[in-house]
Amino acid sequence: MDRSAPSELLEIAVEVAREAAATAYRMRVEGVSVAATKSTVTDVVTAADRAVERQVIDALRRLRPGDAVLGEEYGAGETGPVAPGGVRWIVDPIDGTVNYLYGIPHCAVSLAAEVNGEVVAGVVRNISTGEEWTATAGGGAWRDGERLRCSTESDLGQALVATGFGYDPGRRAHQARVVAELISHIRDIRRFGAAALDLCLAAEGRVDAYYEKGLAAWDQAAGALVATEAGLLVAGLGGLPAGPDLVIAAPAALFEPLHDRLADLDASGGP
Ligand code: IPD
Ligand code: CA
Ligand code: CA
Repeated sequence: MDRSAPSELLEIAVEVAREAAATAYRMRVEGVSVAATKSTVTDVVTAADRAVERQVIDALRRLRPGDAVLGEEYGAGETGPVAPGGVRWIVDPIDGTVNYLYGIPHCAVSLAAEVNGEVVAGVVRNISTGEEWTATAGGGAWRDGERLRCSTESDLGQALVATGFGYDPGRRAHQARVVAELISHIRDIRRFGAAALDLCLAAEGRVDAYYEKGLAAWDQAAGALVATEAGLLVAGLGGLPAGPDLVIAAPAALFEPLHDRLADLDASGGP
């Protein structure tokens, strides 16, 4: 048995993400409060963010001793560096923490497995609704046994586009200027508050496309694989890979017009 096969890794990811989502759900029912703030006063961490990531790390250590883990709350320090050819797990324990805090049922556990720097398996599970998106590299994107296909929209003027904003006020001001210009060239904007779910919604055509500046690896690792496997092009500006400067996820026919508009608006600029 190949212990690094995408299907093997996905099975583990799903098991661990389901248990993690159950913990997050239970802790939300018991009551949630801010445990600390991070980059700014609005960038909060709850006790659940930490407890859920701790649970994921412990489960992966038990099920996959020797693998590395990168998580939003504890970084990479818990397991040490990834061995050559080894597996690295990337976890966002709660993507959409502000929604979680306010009781908006739109937040998720995101867990991906990377081999040789490439994400090969990923799961995103909505903590409140139990909706679960999965993908393996080359094996398609799925939700509840249904294979996902992205939108076929090709007209930017008809496109429903999701995006998000960072926590830094200067960054948001720039992002707001970009949206203010973009919105009159598209159908409309959606800001749901969880990047991993934005990518999954794009994977099933519930929005046509998505873009955002400032995402970390844990925000996008699993969701970007789901989006890619559903047929979206996921990349940055000017042929660069998707990354902190910009993530654009769009159906092939929409990618270029959206990309060019975002480039004109300097969407990867600002702080
Ligand atoms: C945030 C959410 C949000 C996005 C931010 C992310 P968090 O992640 O995904 O939608 O706009 O850029 O930082 O803090 O809720 O895990
Ligand atoms: Ca996140
Ligand atoms: Ca988070």
